[in-house]
Amino acid sequence: MNTEQFFHCLWQDYTRITPQAEQIHRLFAVGGAEVVNDHVAFRTFADTPLELNRLEPLILAMGYVVQDEFQFKAKKLRARSYQHPDAGVPKIFLSELLIPQLSAQSQALLQQYTDQIRDTGLDQTVFWSGRHWQAPEFEDYRALMAETEYGAWLLALGLRVNHFTVSVNHLSSVFHPLGENRPDRGSLQRVITRVKQAGFSVNDTGGEIKGSADVLLEQASTVADRQWLTFADEQEYHIPTCFYEFALRYPDADGNLYQGFVEANADRIFSSTGSLKPKS
Ligand code: NI
Repeated sequence: MNTEQFFHCLWQDYTRITPQAEQIHRLFAVGGAEVVNDHVAFRTFADTPLELNRLEPLILAMGYVVQDEFQFKAKKLRARSYQHPDAGVPKIFLSELLIPQLSAQSQALLQQYTDQIRDTGLDQTVFWSGRHWQAPEFEDYRALMAETEYGAWLLALGLRVNHFTVSVNHLSSVFHPLGENRPDRGSLQRVITRVKQAGFSVNDTGGEIKGSADVLLEQASTVADRQWLTFADEQEYHIPTCFYEFALRYPDADGNLYQGFVEANADRIFSSTGSLKPKS
């Protein structure tokens, strides 16, 4: 599968449960402007047939190379980022939940579901395959949410893209109002303002803008969209799905635009899918 087909399928799956992304995309695509995707991110369960090490070869098969590796100790995650030699192809961020580090209760709860994952050959379609287990009990979802929002999201929604990311560096409509044809330090704030004016909520955990020019990467994200999801026994609940991210990259000492990820930024971006609200 080529990367163009891959990202097309991902976008279809993502916007189906994240209609806000399509609406926000439209805000910035005015006048035929191209909205460039910086990266996508996936979540999965470690120590299962869907673990990071099983998914990675599918990413490498599309021409990607491993860029970096990350540990999120408090969230009990590890992650890797992947970069494509064609700079126009979005980067990929893949993380996995280290189940053995969870409480015994959460491990037992998850095992009922992860035991259902069939150990079969995988191809790239796995990245929009959703759940490989039966719809969870809402009580299991809620119990897991108390320990790991990440795990609850994954239990409910399965393996699929968690977010797309608008490259603010390519958004000429928010460049400096004085007419300079390049982004400046206010560009991301102008994106956030426009998104909020259109009625969408922005994740303000640790401030709306995560990172700074000093770490060469600033990021912001919406609060995840919400959709009705059918749990076990046909019970429907309105739960967080996916969010949309915005990234502004700065040039490094050599004058090249920094292409990496910043652990502290990503740590706060993860919280965009939290905040379970009572049934409405
Ligand atoms: Ni991201």
